[in-house]
Amino acid sequence: MENETKPPLPSVGITYNLKKGVISEADDIEAEYDSFDTIAAIRDVFLSEGYKVELFEADADIVERLKEAKPDIVFNIAEGTTGRGREAHIPAILSYLGIPYTGSDETTLAMALDKEITKRYLSTFHIQTPDYRLAKSPSIEEGPGLTFPLIVKPNHEGSGKGIGQTAVVDNAEELKAVLDKNFKLYGQPMLIEQFISGREFTVGVLGNGENARAFEPMEIRYLKEGRENRIYSFHVKTHYKDYVEYICPPLLDDETNNRMKETALKIHRVLSCRDFSRIDFRLSDQGDIYFIEINPLPGLAPSYSDYPMIAEFCGMSYKELILSVFNCALERYGMKPWNPNRGE
Ligand SMILES: Nc1ncnc2c1ncn2[C@@H]1O[C@H](COP(=O)(O)OP(=O)(O)OP(=O)(O)O)[C@@H](O)[C@H]1O
Ligand SMILES: [Mg+2]
Repeated sequence: MENETKPPLPSVGITYNLKKGVISEADDIEAEYDSFDTIAAIRDVFLSEGYKVELFEADADIVERLKEAKPDIVFNIAEGTTGRGREAHIPAILSYLGIPYTGSDETTLAMALDKEITKRYLSTFHIQTPDYRLAKSPSIEEGPGLTFPLIVKPNHEGSGKGIGQTAVVDNAEELKAVLDKNFKLYGQPMLIEQFISGREFTVGVLGNGENARAFEPMEIRYLKEGRENRIYSFHVKTHYKDYVEYICPPLLDDETNNRMKETALKIHRVLSCRDFSRIDFRLSDQGDIYFIEINPLPGLAPSYSDYPMIAEFCGMSYKELILSVFNCALERYGMKPWNPNRGE
């Protein structure tokens, strides 16, 4: 029948923050934001599956736009703009509006962005993490009570932001210099952490609760000598071809490999992560696995971000990965994937 009205395609919203080309004294000011290529890649996955897709840049009028469009579900990769709760802002809005969304909820995202709170919490589950102090100002009256070398990191950043090539310090003078510089540039507490030399790994997790599964760990193997070249800093991430090679699965004995995956799964579960996450570890020369930090909203830039790279190494294409994350969310909400052939 010509006038028959077809049911609307289930609509997927994508929420995100774009890089804007802001110039700042801190060259990593927009490190966590996405380029439009990433949004387009995710959009194309859903278009190719027959969904109606609507894009929502997470700016000042997003609440009104979401209310009006009311997508059936949102694929959220918005990093937020201000404060240590920024990654939680869009999920909190979506929860408030009753719109289902992919990924962790606002409580997990707010907590995980605060490195110190997360370390403190995970310690109660006997997860090993480097000893640390939190500096709330650049003037440390007493020594930090840790043994050098130490690494200094902004307490609530990601994407290597604020972790420059001078982040590792060997004495009180160097520590003071980095703290002075970082407080000026980043204006937030600094985590002073025991530096764990040794191999570096990141583990991607997919799924929920007992059904969550870990991909094989990916080793980030450093190509250059010199400690400053052996941290996954903003500089190294942006010039990764010169500094690192990625190995997945890594050359690890089975016991260590499994222990690392089990630790990642435990962390994903105790932090109530949903659908996906990526967890960074260092393996000390003594064989201890140290939790460094968790990314419950890992970057999804195709062929660049660690998480899609891990999936690809493990035989999962970008499209499959996006749809797997999406299907985990659908399952949580008791929703079914759109089937264009059946029109349902
Ligand atoms: N305690 C530590 N010992 C040794 N290296 C460390 C330590 N903490 C951080 N690093 C190095 O610095 C890198 C960045 O640290 P971290 O993962 O905490 O920052 P991030 O900006 O949140 O990372 P991401 O880009 O994964 O969001 C790590 O990948 C690791 O190479
Ligand atoms: Mg990291």
